[in-house]
Amino acid sequence: MGETGRDRRMKKLRRCLLFIACWILPVFFSAGCSTQKQPADETEAGRNLVVGFSQLGSESAWRLGNTASMEQAAKEHGISLMMENGMQKQEKQINAIRSFIAYQVDVIVFAPIVEDGWANVLQEARDAKIPVIMMDRVINTADSDLYDAYIGPDHYMEGVNAAKFLLKKAEEMPQETIHIVELSGTDGSSPMLRRFRGFHDLIDGDERFEVLATVSGDFLRSKGRKCMENLLARYGDEIDVLYSHNDAMTLGAIEAMEEQGIRPGEDIVIITVDGEQAAVDLLKEGKINCVVECSPKLGEAVMDLAEKMVNGEEYPRNTHPEESVFTEYDDLSNLGPRGY
Ligand code: AHR
Repeated sequence: MGETGRDRRMKKLRRCLLFIACWILPVFFSAGCSTQKQPADETEAGRNLVVGFSQLGSESAWRLGNTASMEQAAKEHGISLMMENGMQKQEKQINAIRSFIAYQVDVIVFAPIVEDGWANVLQEARDAKIPVIMMDRVINTADSDLYDAYIGPDHYMEGVNAAKFLLKKAEEMPQETIHIVELSGTDGSSPMLRRFRGFHDLIDGDERFEVLATVSGDFLRSKGRKCMENLLARYGDEIDVLYSHNDAMTLGAIEAMEEQGIRPGEDIVIITVDGEQAAVDLLKEGKINCVVECSPKLGEAVMDLAEKMVNGEEYPRNTHPEESVFTEYDDLSNLGPRGY
């Protein structure tokens, strides 16, 4: 049965009360259930649309670029964005999603910090008939109806592309056995699991390669540096290649190398994922050999999809942005500013 005028008035009233409880009272009592809200512009497409967005954290320039892309696109679409930062805690993200359900937002968007542990809260969203878009990362579930659509990169292909570069580079490397160290991302997260799998599916079993160690730097620059210091202390100049799951950790690792007089990009071949400006600049300087692009600019596609869902239009279940691989073999002179 469709919504009646009374249902709509009740929904408005409930939202109003929740708005006061979640957004106005905390200002007085300085304990909020939210971090940000933008006023909606009155556009044709986005009128009255409220999107609840659970971002997972602020761990990298990539993540900040992703948040900025969501905010910008919401503004352009006249969509009211309720954003919560999960600060790398799944529990905080689950609480945020629950608050969006209580508020009866039109669409929930979330970037899941890890793959497991979402079934209950997503079932609650389904019971409340609120469509859910997974953004950037994916979850591990046998019940594909727990979410409605995914917009984000193909993290497995990023791992494959990193390995493809190494297979090419290996042709010109003199070592009989090429020793690799791997800095992986947050344990249990989809980019960590899939970048690992994609890379290893191509190189494991190839006798030219030996992975000395895979250690988690949690996608953080500070941990990337620390992990690299430990790896250098343990393996010294045995290390021929660094495969790092993101640019932030790579930047930290490069600091650790340079501190010890190691020339990144020459003494150690470096393959990284993301495509932040800082990493692309180092690629141009010869300190990084390959950057596998992972685009954070997902906001426009997300807002477009949210509108389609609410308007009852057809939409794709999976959307992957177009992504490139930038390497030392390419002419990068025409590559524009990255924007993140
Ligand atoms: O989920 C995407 C990954 O998360 C990016 O590669 C990384 O920089 C971010 O922290």
